[in-house]
Amino acid sequence: MEPIKVIHISDLHISDDLSHGDKWYDIPGRHGHNVKAFLALDAFLKTTEWDLLLITGDVSRIGESDSFVWVKDWLEGNYTIGNFTVGLNLSKSTVRKYLIVPGNHDRFGGNIWQGSLNLYNKEFPEVKAGSVESLTIRGCKVNIHLFDSTTSDGGFAGGKIEQNALVPKALKDTEIDIALLHHPFLHLPEHPRETAKDLKNSADVAAYMLYTGFDAIFFGHTHKRYIEQKSVKKLSRCLPDKRQQSSSDLRRAPKVILQMMENNTKIVNVPYRRTATKKGQLPTRKSYFDYLFFLMQGYELDDPSNYQYIREFYDQINNVPSDIRIQDMVNRAKQKEILISLAPSACQAKNTYCGFNIVTFRGFSNGQLDTSWNLVDFNGSNFQILP
Ligand SMILES: [Fe+2]
Repeated sequence: MEPIKVIHISDLHISDDLSHGDKWYDIPGRHGHNVKAFLALDAFLKTTEWDLLLITGDVSRIGESDSFVWVKDWLEGNYTIGNFTVGLNLSKSTVRKYLIVPGNHDRFGGNIWQGSLNLYNKEFPEVKAGSVESLTIRGCKVNIHLFDSTTSDGGFAGGKIEQNALVPKALKDTEIDIALLHHPFLHLPEHPRETAKDLKNSADVAAYMLYTGFDAIFFGHTHKRYIEQKSVKKLSRCLPDKRQQSSSDLRRAPKVILQMMENNTKIVNVPYRRTATKKGQLPTRKSYFDYLFFLMQGYELDDPSNYQYIREFYDQINNVPSDIRIQDMVNRAKQKEILISLAPSACQAKNTYCGFNIVTFRGFSNGQLDTSWNLVDFNGSNFQILP
């Protein structure tokens, strides 16, 4: 496979006041933009080779319609203010593409309380539950799975991914699968003060993201940077709720893996919610997942509701010849390595630094994606790749 170079930027926080007449205009403060950094970002992206630009939300300061117009015109076309013309002209490019998901600031609509994505969606496509963009880049299929983690009841910073967007998927070992969302779902070890608390259902999202089989997961929101490729087992040590770690494994891993199994027409009809016996007893999660797994293997088994007592349901499970395949699949899923890319803000005004990440996908060996990355920081006049 020819290497594929992906630029990951986040949290531009471009304001509707990007210019005044023919003058560029800085907006200071925590969520304003730094024009110098923006111009340098534009210059870097125009003079560097890359294949795909991924943007993980908060392109706007407070969600004013003009800020989205600025960003879209910059990405897809160009414009001149004073002595500087900026623009990536991506609408005219046949090889380079960009994909974007919204952040909590993109939902403000000129307010400081999350309202709706109406203004954002006038310029950028709505991210629907289960949205996937499939591209062929340098002969390799790259699937970008888009998630809207913003929510109208999220207050200032909060987020949530609706349950219907956490769709189980059968992913192929020979294709690159990247998940894109704004809010982090892990407590990253290098940022002890940044918790995954802003994402309300972060435990559920983490379990889903880690066990679906994505090769890479990109997010932003914290204005900090983290980039590593680690096994699911190691990443699950960064789960937001440590107490839920083992139960998340049980709750989610089997569900996701069961549903990922291909060539299984019963898959959609598998009842995930455990049913009780006539006496109201619920089976253990493990026995219930074993039951679902055996069902999908073609065994004819009865639901707990067909029994008076739960032990009769267990007897039925115990009589099925043991099958180690499910444990194998769970173990394989835990060993899979995922690239986690948290991009800092690329041009936000009051940041300790402005920067972004470059990820290079180099090919597969044994179903594992070979990746490398570069960190790029703004030095006051240019963006430079760190040594
Ligand atoms: Fe954010």
